[in-house]
Amino acid sequence: MIKPHGSDQLRPLFVQDDSQRERLIKEAESLPSLLISSAAAANAVMLGAGYFTPLDGYMNIADSLSVAETMRTTGGLFWPIPIMNLTQDSGAIKGAKRIALRDPNVPGNPVIAIQTVTAVETLSDEQLDRITAKVFGSLSPEHPGVATFKGHGKQVISGPIEVLNFSYFPTDFPDTFRTAPQIRENIRKKGWKKVVAFQTRNPMHRAHEELCKMAMTSVGADGVLIHMLLGKLKPGDIPAEVRDAAIRKMVELYFPPDTVKVTGYGFDMLYAGPREAVLHAVFRQNAGCTHFIVGRDHAGVGSFYGPFDAQKIFQTEVPPGALAIEIFGADNTAYSKKLQRVVMMRDAPDHTPDDFVTLSGTKVRDMLAAGKSLPVEFARPEVAEILMKYYQQEAASSPT
Ligand code: ADX
Repeated sequence: MIKPHGSDQLRPLFVQDDSQRERLIKEAESLPSLLISSAAAANAVMLGAGYFTPLDGYMNIADSLSVAETMRTTGGLFWPIPIMNLTQDSGAIKGAKRIALRDPNVPGNPVIAIQTVTAVETLSDEQLDRITAKVFGSLSPEHPGVATFKGHGKQVISGPIEVLNFSYFPTDFPDTFRTAPQIRENIRKKGWKKVVAFQTRNPMHRAHEELCKMAMTSVGADGVLIHMLLGKLKPGDIPAEVRDAAIRKMVELYFPPDTVKVTGYGFDMLYAGPREAVLHAVFRQNAGCTHFIVGRDHAGVGSFYGPFDAQKIFQTEVPPGALAIEIFGADNTAYSKKLQRVVMMRDAPDHTPDDFVTLSGTKVRDMLAAGKSLPVEFARPEVAEILMKYYQQEAASSPT
């Protein structure tokens, strides 16, 4: 099976051993504690679940700057996005060697991890801007990822962590949330040798379904891992439980049996476009996938990135050999009225835009909220029905 990133073995930081975990939970009661950001909690979940192998915790300023600027840690590890525990005020943990990290996303703020603090540093405004500009390619407060990132604070708490739980993900998504070792084990059991991973934060329409099928055929894969983001999104994005139901329905009805695994991971969307695409590739390699689909405007938002910037970065900035996983770059995909099937636009050079059935996200939302069916060329009817129910409930409950 494909090697984990930067290591011979996965390094999930979740404490497996029950008695050791009990000991740490007990220890946490007497430690100074810090209520962390949702982003820092999501980092803990990803570290705990082995997706961020081989990292052992949160980065300090030197590593964060080095990763932002060169996509390498100061120790030389290839890594695309700083993994940080940023806070506004570190007064409560002043001088402490070990601290309990409290989860902002679970009622009562239980301890999600224990951190051994190696440093508490303060980012200058210039350093914060440098990291933001490199990671997001923008400093605009209109960019939802930039606004969230810059709101975390400037105190950088670095050091290794021991993870005690996976936040709300196993309870809210028991059938879908999976760790990297669990996915690897599943791939091993199925005997799949080539596995294509598909990242998504949206429901899957015909274009996405066909994208997975095209990628599978093209690389000769045994299966596809649909691996959806289960964490926080910007307002207007479809909640994970609705998307999960729609994707499962599509897989059940329209994929050959036993060729797809539907799973999810506990991370908040960054909307960091190209850099996030590289992070996506890193953690799909850790989950045992050999190929990763990157299509149009991957992990993008608004018009902050060019439609294929997230593919270009793999050719221009990711050094050869830095990743073992291979990228399947997909062109804009849509239903062709001429050919009566979904195609990648590069495979239909004689077409004009009118030859394709395309709908903007806003148009899809408006149609469904108004109870209008989507064209079958665009969305499977069973998928559209699940989405329509959601949008109509939304419309009914929102103030006029
Ligand atoms: S993402 O933010 O998680 O990347 P989304 O769920 O919309 O967003 O997309 C999942 C994957 O499908 C990404 O790789 C994206 O580039 C790709 N994709 C989405 N729509 C299209 C399309 N019409 N043509 C080609 N690729 C697409």
